[in-house]
Amino acid sequence: LSDGPLKGVKAIVTSGPTREAIDPVRFIANRSSGKQGHAIASALAALGAEVTLVSGPVSIPDPTGLAVVKVESAVQMLNAVRSRLPAHVVVCAAAVADWTVANRATEKRKKKVGDPPPTIELTPNPDILMTVSKAEGPLRPTLVVGFAAETEKLMEHAADKLARKGCDWIVANDVSEGTGTFGGDANTVHVLDSDGVESWPAMGKEEVARKLAERIAKALGKA
Ligand code: PMT
Repeated sequence: LSDGPLKGVKAIVTSGPTREAIDPVRFIANRSSGKQGHAIASALAALGAEVTLVSGPVSIPDPTGLAVVKVESAVQMLNAVRSRLPAHVVVCAAAVADWTVANRATEKRKKKVGDPPPTIELTPNPDILMTVSKAEGPLRPTLVVGFAAETEKLMEHAADKLARKGCDWIVANDVSEGTGTFGGDANTVHVLDSDGVESWPAMGKEEVARKLAERIAKALGKA
């Protein structure tokens, strides 16, 4: 552990996509690479925080100097986060599937000639960010930071998420096709909190992570 301003601060960061199984060989996922979430975990650790990174399946390497917990589904991610509370700060950068498969098959779905294609039924997943934000007593972190990934009405939808999910900050980013936000190395973010909006210029995901970690240290009175 580095001896920085966040020494003694416990942080949990979620990162990457989740996979929701359709059957033992197929799943529903999304385009998250884990780059932004992993960078945030590293930046918090670099400031001395004791970090647990809870990651969905990604192909980038594990960051060093922190604990990494690997999960697949949203339910597994929620359980991993919950079991590591209390924490001073939780950052939810993972792209968690909003729905999971209700009619998951225990054996591989077989294609039979003449049969219609199978129907995949979806059911809502638990919301990790909302669960953590609305936790009561000592299980409620001092600071809960969510993300909003939008393809339209970015600021409007982000403000709605800030209000609805009960977190302290929302980091809004545009994930429309062509932005490269999913999977790329750069990001353009807007940080929303009860005081308003701070818009940051386009920068590398590591730089976003460093600035966010510094903002977190300041908010915790540690900068
Ligand atoms: O991984 P990269 O390729 O680097 O891309 C980074 C990113 C685009 C994935 C990241 O910057 C980002 O925006 N992460 C949030 C993605 C997302 O799922 O956003 P959302 O608007 O659908 O969800 C809002 C918030 O609720 C997020 O903090 C999300 O983690 C959280 N959530 C959502 C659903 C759910 N069931 N549980 C949650 O905790």
